[in-house]
Amino acid sequence: MIKTGIYPGTFDPLTNGHLDIVKRSLKIIDKLIIAVADNNNKVPLLSIDERKQIIQNDLEENNIQSSNIEIQSVKGLLTEFAKSYNATCIIKGLRAVSDFEYEFQMAGMNYQLNPNIETIFLMSSDKNSFISSKLVKEVHKLGGDISSFVSTYTIKVLNNKIS
Ligand code: COA
Repeated sequence: MIKTGIYPGTFDPLTNGHLDIVKRSLKIIDKLIIAVADNNNKVPLLSIDERKQIIQNDLEENNIQSSNIEIQSVKGLLTEFAKSYNATCIIKGLRAVSDFEYEFQMAGMNYQLNPNIETIFLMSSDKNSFISSKLVKEVHKLGGDISSFVSTYTIKVLNNKIS
């Protein structure tokens, strides 16, 4: 049986930290759906298409096998979305203790909504544990170098946004 997992997030934009989670999750599941949130409480800088395009570009650039990955947008309940793909797990990256409480609540709520779907947490590797999309955007806006955190393509997209 093919094991499908959902990796949800805002990905505004995808960072090297997210890519690391994508690569590592493919060691434990067969198929990964990267679910780009279209309706959460955040107001993203990038459109849903720009965020999906960055993910597609970065997967290709990093030779991550795209036959095992789908990039989709998600509206509505994540558990319903997961069910529609016959997914058995939701993958989340945990960077620091500060992520834990909120993630713990979401995992608990999702379990109540559908106990057939497990949440699996992958710890961020050391070098990625401080990266966040919000900080990447802030540093870029203020003229800082973000090339260690995101792809050149992403920097181009961000440059277009602020020009
Ligand atoms: N490396 C680098 N950064 C990482 C990371 C990693 N491994 N893992 C997480 N992050 C960062 C992200 O960049 C983001 O940073 P930012 O806030 O600075 O932008 C932050 O951690 C996580 O934010 P986000 O991607 O928005 O995820 P989230 O944990 O807030 O959850 C959804 C977003 C879409 C998964 C969630 O809102 C959801 O499930 N929505 C669907 C509706 C639903 O079912 N609601 C009920 C849920 S119980």
